[in-house]
Amino acid sequence: MKRLLSGLVFLFGLVSFAQAAGDAAAGAEKVAVCAGCHGADGNSAVANFPKLAGQGEKYLIKQLRDIKSGARGVVEMTGLLDNLTEQDFENIAAFYAGKATSGAAADPELVKKGQAIYRAGNMATSVAACTACHAPTGAGIALAGFPKLAGQHAAYIEAQLAKFRSGERTNDGDARIMRDIAAKLTDAEIKAVASYISGLR
Ligand code: HEC
Ligand code: HEC
Repeated sequence: MKRLLSGLVFLFGLVSFAQAAGDAAAGAEKVAVCAGCHGADGNSAVANFPKLAGQGEKYLIKQLRDIKSGARGVVEMTGLLDNLTEQDFENIAAFYAGKATSGAAADPELVKKGQAIYRAGNMATSVAACTACHAPTGAGIALAGFPKLAGQHAAYIEAQLAKFRSGERTNDGDARIMRDIAAKLTDAEIKAVASYISGLR
């Protein structure tokens, strides 16, 4: 127990160092090339391109590493991260994390079903509630690297759930958290929960 506790204290120490490292002003100088797809302030206009505004730094840094290494394939970003360093990633993450997420509206017809899945999962098919890790408001848990989902484009959320389900996206680690959850979701459930998420604030 004592060892577990000191391990946790050590981990939280690492997390707080990682948080302090990013310089948003330096990050702003690296993102001109990103703006065409992700928007100048990280609020992309096109639904296939994820919003980065307001996203947690730890999650952003992990995705940048994974996209650079190829652990997460994003053809649109091929080569774009090759000349960026770990320090650049931290700065870029600090830049986007500090921006406000633009709003979106959920499809009123899908809200009830989407909300039920988001808050309670699906007992019959053992789908875990999304709130446990992504928070009731969709804010995520930044320090744990659980991404913010609130306000994200529904089409992007849908696409990610489909990619986790088909195994095209595998960077949720050895624990396979998202692949295991998505595997049990139907197309209709994915559509509903994605729409609900896009309307969260
Ligand atoms: C040509 C368009 C394009 C450009 C330019 C681009 N991206 Fe992306 N980016 C994408 C697409 C498309 C995805 C999501 C792909 C998927 O998984 O469906 C993505 C995903 C991401 C993600 C993961 C977001 C999440 O919620 O998981 C991050 C972080 C990211 N991009 C950062 C950047 C940064 C930083 C730059 C500039 C150095 C950049 N991108 C330039 C198209 C682009
Ligand atoms: C046990 C924790 C946990 C639960 C429960 C969970 N998630 Fe996740 N989710 C994660 C983690 C961790 C990631 C980030 C994986 C990575 O590093 O790429 C993630 C990533 C995602 C992404 C990708 C976000 C992006 O910007 O690309 C979506 C979409 C998502 N989750 C939706 C859901 C939905 C919908 C549910 C409920 C049906 C759910 N999650 C339940 C932990 C969880």
